[in-house]
Amino acid sequence: LLAIATMPRADDALKIRRAVARDAPALSRLLHEVGFPSSSSEVAKRLKSLPNPVFVAVRNRKVIGLLTTNIMPVLHRPTAVGRLSALFVSKQERSRGVGRALVAAAEQYLKSVGCALVEVTSNLRLKDAHAFYEHLGYEATSVRFKRALHPKG
Ligand SMILES: CC(C)(COP(=O)(O)OP(=O)(O)OC[C@H]1O[C@@H](n2cnc3c(N)ncnc32)[C@H](O)[C@@H]1OP(=O)(O)O)[C@@H](O)C(=O)NCCC(=O)NCCS
Repeated sequence: LLAIATMPRADDALKIRRAVARDAPALSRLLHEVGFPSSSSEVAKRLKSLPNPVFVAVRNRKVIGLLTTNIMPVLHRPTAVGRLSALFVSKQERSRGVGRALVAAAEQYLKSVGCALVEVTSNLRLKDAHAFYEHLGYEATSVRFKRALHPKG
């Protein structure tokens, strides 16, 4: 009995799966927490319109991380370029392998659809994120230039 009581429940295990429409409220909460406030209905609308998958990390039925992907067809390379376009892990869940598991799932997916390369852009200020990507085998090779085309940009 003791053994059963102390055994980790299946819900405790980290699961990575594709996001579905009913995840919108949890994704909205996570985006608020990490500084990208978007209402649940806005997130639901965007989720529906995204052409490429969003992966979520779930523990105890709670969404604790998200990673969005993009497949960018290009003329100058033989295969489309895979992109990790947003990656966030809930603050109290960091440093427990969630980011690594999300990136692994996204890489597996991007490889399965034919991308020979995966890339990510990361704000110059986010030194910890850079160390994380480098630790996972990513190499810093480019600088991103941006210009707003609209006040929302
Ligand atoms: C960056 C982020 C996604 C990492 O997720 P995480 O769940 O905390 O990272 P993990 O626990 O999966 O770490 C995976 C590995 O990277 C290493 N790592 C993580 N952060 C590191 C750092 N700052 N320096 C060196 N190594 C680091 C871990 O030690 C771990 O190594 P191991 O698996 O070999 O033991 C998360 O901290 C986060 O959401 N940060 C804020 C948002 C952000 O910056 N997103 C990226 C925007 S481009």
